[in-house]
Amino acid sequence: MLLRSDITAALAAVVGIALAVQTDGNTPVKDNAITAVTQREVSFAEEVLPILEKYCVECHSEDNAELGLKLDTYEGVMGGSDYGTVVEAGDVDASLLIDMIASGDMPDGGDPMPAEELDVIKAWVTEGAQKN
Ligand code: HEC
Repeated sequence: MLLRSDITAALAAVVGIALAVQTDGNTPVKDNAITAVTQREVSFAEEVLPILEKYCVECHSEDNAELGLKLDTYEGVMGGSDYGTVVEAGDVDASLLIDMIASGDMPDGGDPMPAEELDVIKAWVTEGAQKN
């Protein structure tokens, strides 16, 4: 037969475990919420292309493609220049296109692109440079 104190101890243990689980469970949920916001998928068509149109297509389009680089379509961006690829899917550091903007070399002769807009392109490259 169980003594009242044993039952109390057992209940305390159960409540303790429940609290521990709840506390442990809270952290990942919070992390997931933050992750969902920061890792929102960037759309090429809706976010990246308008930025390229604003800063780059004047010199990199079907009509006027400096170095053969066309930045007015997804295929053009991924097709690269006469010298090769300018976007490496998933790898910002290996992407010449990012490099040229970050260093201020592009847009050629124009004002540097604001960091917020470059960040959108970087996020899209990091997410795999998808046609989305
Ligand atoms: C006023 C014209 C002009 C604008 C605007 C411009 N570019 Fe360029 N771009 C050039 C010229 C000219 C070259 C080749 C000579 C050089 O590298 O400076 C070039 C070269 C490049 C290269 C190097 C390609 C290679 O394989 O070496 C990349 C990448 C590039 N541009 C990206 C961009 C991006 C991204 C933008 C917009 C943010 C942009 N350019 C805006 C004229 C322009």
